[in-house]
Amino acid sequence: MLSFVNKSTVAVTSLRANSKRMFATIDATPNRIHGGLKDKDRIFQNLYLQNSDKHGTEPWDLKTAEKIGDWYKTKEILLKGDKWIIDEMKKSGLRGRGGAGFPSGLKWSFMNPPGWEKNVGPRYVAVNADEGEPGTCKDREIIRKEPHKLVEGCLLAGRAMNATAAYIYIRGEFYNETVILQNAIDEAYKHGKLGKNACGSGYDFDVYIHRGMGAYVCGEETALIESMEGKAGKPRMKPPFPAGVGLFGRPTTVTNVETVAVAPTILRRGSSWFSSFGRERNSGTKLFCVSGQVNEPCTFEEEMSVPLKEVLERHCGGVIGGWDNLLAVIPGGSSTPILNAETCQDQLMDYDALRNVGSGLGTAAVIVMNKQADVIRGIQRLLAFYKHESCGQCTPCREGSTYLSKMMDRLAVGQANEKEIDQALELTHKVCGHSICAMGEAFSWPYQGLVKNFKPLMIERIQQYKAANGLTEGGLNHGGWYEGAEIKNGEVINNPIPKEAFHGH
Ligand SMILES: Cc1cc2nc3c(=O)[nH]c(=O)nc-3n(C[C@H](O)[C@H](O)[C@H](O)COP(=O)(O)O)c2cc1C
Ligand code: SF4
Repeated sequence: MLSFVNKSTVAVTSLRANSKRMFATIDATPNRIHGGLKDKDRIFQNLYLQNSDKHGTEPWDLKTAEKIGDWYKTKEILLKGDKWIIDEMKKSGLRGRGGAGFPSGLKWSFMNPPGWEKNVGPRYVAVNADEGEPGTCKDREIIRKEPHKLVEGCLLAGRAMNATAAYIYIRGEFYNETVILQNAIDEAYKHGKLGKNACGSGYDFDVYIHRGMGAYVCGEETALIESMEGKAGKPRMKPPFPAGVGLFGRPTTVTNVETVAVAPTILRRGSSWFSSFGRERNSGTKLFCVSGQVNEPCTFEEEMSVPLKEVLERHCGGVIGGWDNLLAVIPGGSSTPILNAETCQDQLMDYDALRNVGSGLGTAAVIVMNKQADVIRGIQRLLAFYKHESCGQCTPCREGSTYLSKMMDRLAVGQANEKEIDQALELTHKVCGHSICAMGEAFSWPYQGLVKNFKPLMIERIQQYKAANGLTEGGLNHGGWYEGAEIKNGEVINNPIPKEAFHGH
């Protein structure tokens, strides 16, 4: 049986409306079981190169793109104008696929406040192709296999926001993807789809690629803008929001690759087609990327609100060792709180259903751990990543991520006092909402999820460590990587922590 809660509650939160950062959400009522998306309803038709292989073309070829429906009637859509496009996007119910799930049509409309025309000068769409969140691997697949969807999406999103150009900010490591994308852009220019009088619509629009240097924080929208301006990628305080003061001081909207790439199909097939998928206010189809202990890790498109069990069993060959061998799932990229196996039983994959169990859909990057995995070590590794990626400009994040990462190094081997579990938890509650960008939440939520679901395991590990090392409460040395080791005559002996497991300094 599927579990749903809060039928009557209609609670809308958004990144902008609420000082406490969380995933934007609205509780929704189910009306059917979702999933089993048919091929004809997939937006991404070449994700497995099935169409470019069939036609003997390259995935980035305009020929492939046109065969799968890209660039069809683009001129007609452009001529319908900004209001029509934004209205359709709003009606489609699309929510940003970059992680926060903010309604896209509404976000795009912030670029056109009354009198926007009087602010003469360039206006930008900044497409976020940084994709640095561990577990997330969908945007790169779009760029590799269906780059024209993104290029056409830039043009239509640009028209909606009355932008003059799109900058695609792509992670530096994605060298091959950059080459593929540049090929598609060049082809679009060559065939009059971009540049002056794009697609013969009378609208001028350019698309550029900007390569980043691989820092995770540059995926945060204001850090991305700073980085494109040639500065260190450090998030800005908001307000002002980018729609007011963005790239080079001009109105800008930063939006994710998938959000932009699905827009042309939505506008062609209609908002009601898109919104017919998924639960109310969780509309559409979505790319899911599954990694970890499943038999066939992969990226695929499914209907929103599909049960997690179907995601794993139908698309990924099941959990290694079988469903009963499931230990935990991180449902939406590494920053979303982890779920235990019990919660996973009936879990739906959408913004509201995951929020209702204290987690989030994020980027729909599902990380699976079976009973052979060490969940504490898993979170330890993620926290080492976040500590490394903190830009360091605000204290709660810089110090908090460092403290938590060091703490996890000890907790991973059980070398801690039980009360430290809650002390660290309290620290994460103090960090959330008190940092410049959402990195504070990004490293706090994994720890909060761990404690919520696996505290007995953490305590057991501490007890095992104490028993194995003959330690009593207060018998720990918190001085360095040799913490907890026996020290005789100034020499470290019997060190329980292998040096490579320790990410502190
Ligand atoms: C530390 C951090 C890293 C982020 N990395 C990415 C990223 O790689 N790609 C992305 O689209 N959004 C990323 N985001 C979210 C962006 O700030 C922004 O919300 C998103 O690009 C908006 O796109 P959307 O409206 O289409 O969802 C990140 C946010 C934070 C706080
Ligand atoms: S929260 Fe972290 S990453 Fe974000 S601005 Fe502050 S220090 Fe930098």
